[in-house]
Amino acid sequence: MKGAEVRKSFLDFFASKNHLIVPSAPIVPIGDPTLMFTNAGMVQFKDVFLGLAEAPAPRVADSQKCLRISGKHNDLEDVGRDTYHHTLFEMLGNWSFGDYYKHEAIEWAWELLTGVWGLPKDKLYATVYRTDDEAETLWKKITDIAPERVRRFDEKDNFWEMGDTGPCGPCSEIHIDRGPAACDMRHVRGHVCDVNVGCARFMELWNLVFIQYSRDERGRLHELPAKHVDTGMGLERVASVLEKVETNYDGSLLRSLISAAERLSGGRYGADADKDISYRVLADHSRAVSFMICDGIEPGNEGRGYVLRRLLRRAARHGKNLGLGDAFLYKICDAVIETMGDAYAELGAQREKLLSVVRDEEERFSVTLDRGLVHLESEVARFSTTGDAGEAGDKQGGAAIAPAAGIKLPGDVAFRLYDTYGFPLDMTEDILRSRGMTVDREGFEAALEEQRERARGAQSARGGQRDYTLLVAAARGRGVEFVGPFATAERSQITALSSGGQLLDGLAEGQEGELTTALTPFYGESGGQVGDTGVIEASDGSRAVVLDTQKPAPDIIVHVVRVERGRIQVGQQVELRIDADRRQAIRLNHSATHLLHAALRHHLGSSVHQHGSLVDAGRLRFDFNNSGPVADEMLADVETEVNGAIRANLEVSVTETPYDDAIVAGAMAFFGDKYGDIVRVVKMGDYSIELCGGTHVARTGDIGLLRITSESGVAAGVRRMEATTGGAALALVQRRDDILHEIALLLRIREEDAVGRIEKLLAEQRELEKKLLRAAQGQSRDRVSELGATARTLRSGKAIVARVEGVEPKDLRSLSDRLREIIGSGVVVLVAQDDSAVSVLVAVTADLTSAYSAGDIIRHLTPLIDGRGGGKADFAQAGGKNPAGIAALLEKANEIIR
Ligand code: ALA
Repeated sequence: MKGAEVRKSFLDFFASKNHLIVPSAPIVPIGDPTLMFTNAGMVQFKDVFLGLAEAPAPRVADSQKCLRISGKHNDLEDVGRDTYHHTLFEMLGNWSFGDYYKHEAIEWAWELLTGVWGLPKDKLYATVYRTDDEAETLWKKITDIAPERVRRFDEKDNFWEMGDTGPCGPCSEIHIDRGPAACDMRHVRGHVCDVNVGCARFMELWNLVFIQYSRDERGRLHELPAKHVDTGMGLERVASVLEKVETNYDGSLLRSLISAAERLSGGRYGADADKDISYRVLADHSRAVSFMICDGIEPGNEGRGYVLRRLLRRAARHGKNLGLGDAFLYKICDAVIETMGDAYAELGAQREKLLSVVRDEEERFSVTLDRGLVHLESEVARFSTTGDAGEAGDKQGGAAIAPAAGIKLPGDVAFRLYDTYGFPLDMTEDILRSRGMTVDREGFEAALEEQRERARGAQSARGGQRDYTLLVAAARGRGVEFVGPFATAERSQITALSSGGQLLDGLAEGQEGELTTALTPFYGESGGQVGDTGVIEASDGSRAVVLDTQKPAPDIIVHVVRVERGRIQVGQQVELRIDADRRQAIRLNHSATHLLHAALRHHLGSSVHQHGSLVDAGRLRFDFNNSGPVADEMLADVETEVNGAIRANLEVSVTETPYDDAIVAGAMAFFGDKYGDIVRVVKMGDYSIELCGGTHVARTGDIGLLRITSESGVAAGVRRMEATTGGAALALVQRRDDILHEIALLLRIREEDAVGRIEKLLAEQRELEKKLLRAAQGQSRDRVSELGATARTLRSGKAIVARVEGVEPKDLRSLSDRLREIIGSGVVVLVAQDDSAVSVLVAVTADLTSAYSAGDIIRHLTPLIDGRGGGKADFAQAGGKNPAGIAALLEKANEIIR
């Protein structure tokens, strides 16, 4: 039975036991801030267990994509090193929500494993929680497992918790003995193969959790209103057993990915233990990144985005170990789609985006990976040569380990690798682990924190960031409700007020601060749309201008105000009015952004997705991925298409629907954005559909006109487009029209002839410039020979002392050089006048510098023109302000030279 058949067989079995089969939930848990990723099948049912939500049916089963790479369940370090841990895996699960309990859970598990799938009963073990007599008795009573194979374990192995808080309970696990050959701990002295000792010979297959408690933030357990069953079986593991292959990676679900890596590297899995780890990492990580990206995560520097980036970088590093160059993982991701696309349609549907995101990220990192590795090597060498190495090596018991074994890499070195070369900490640890080295994690964290401190300092010095912490806390619970996208005014009460991060009762005239109200028509900056501006007025005439509106928390809208008159205070009834014209302009730009996004995808392919956007009153800015500049013709086509959609005057509808329905309907969701269960879907005819919380026009025709104003690059693979709409776009067109009109008037031509005429004028100008240059060259040749003819003979050498007309001071020097050449030996004194400025230059040929010094001569001349200057024996220059002295200067020069 292949992996895909095992999945189906599991679901069929539980369907036959009256279970409703549900789809896998997204890998990003919806509406659960306590969890970074879905790490078990039960995550989507957490609220059901807690009695907060209704179950879809009393009995449910599914195959859930899970990530175990953060928080309580993190298997990352083991991935690749052993053969049965994964970052991403599929969990087959069946649930009872207050319906059946331990009896059926155990009975059916045994029936499926041994009856339907025919696993050998004498190879299976059951474990129960140390105090769970009931489960132990059930195993012995209702199944024919040998009684000595039912074993008790404590909390560590047999009490399951989803996270630090939440549903939990005792569990019963089923393990299989894969025979002595499967043991991977032979090298550990004193190792005896057994259940729960971390040996691959005894592999956990299925976990039956009897959910009956919830753990709170303080660690206390509370009995739940009902008892539930939550089971989980790793598909990859059970499939490898049923496919009768040695490990998970040899099974149909993962082997094809290893084969893809083999094809790329030209190597062979199984030939070299160190390289095998890399093959397994690539197979594993390619699946995880594929699912993460297709569920909306993008590489980034925080949270989920950073986990994704870490995986991609780790994969790049292991690829390097296999001799794979720049970008290769995206090709393995293609193989992921091939093996899993049938069961998970989201993979195939987003193929282009997936491959381009992976490829972009790989290409970017490959630049620094090599340099970082060199840096790491040199650091390792530095620390290996310290005296500690020998001693540390002994501690490790020695011989097989590299000389660096036992050494801790200082935290600041790991931080530099992180900061300069983009090496995630776990990647550095991964590299060092094979040499028996570790990283000083605390030192790393300290260096990271120091950097954050510096960044915070820089930010507050700019004054850009305000501290809303206390204000948000004070406003929470008193409600801050946005009264809707079309209201422009509202009456409400001020609920909280602060300034400089401190809560206040009121603000006096001239003071700036932040305040919240129970209701507001002001849109708080979010989703790329800037916050509204406007005024807040109290009935006593007090008045504040709203400079900006922010949304520091999903449910809190903060008005940034300056009091212009009177006093604004907490509890006051006020009238809030937004600048409606500005909001209208913003509305147009926001709706136009959606149209632009859709048009870009039509022209550049559906791999194009938004990297960020800014919508304000004057313009819209849209960042998107693309490998190079967008050609001018393409820009024109995109603009034409958007304007077509505007003229089609499509109706804009805004609806609220469950997230899943919106995604199925094809809505573009922006990753990095958080969406709740219920999302806002903005649809423009059938042309565009996006999840968006912003304010929009009623019909696309309201936008009037869109003009793209620029297209440029902002980062590797990211382009930025700017555009304007409505009145601003019209003004832009009119301004350009006026300019063209003026040009036509000036040239006395028709507007459509302007380009041809300007081209002609430019050509004529170039011709004239050439002529002028030739004339000037002729003139200066003439001038040089004229001046040369004035040379007088001295006792030794010749002298030219002359006033020159029409020569710019900067050209005096080259003129004097040519005169020096003509006379061969002697002195040149040139004077030029430009308005009231006088320039003097004295040059002496090298052979005469002992007789004449240019510097000395010029010092005698400068007083005559009220000048300053100087120089050396062969060359000197000066400037003066008294043209009346030029005649005397020339006379004096002649006198000196004589
Ligand atoms: N929720 C249980 C687990 O993840 C089944 O093991």
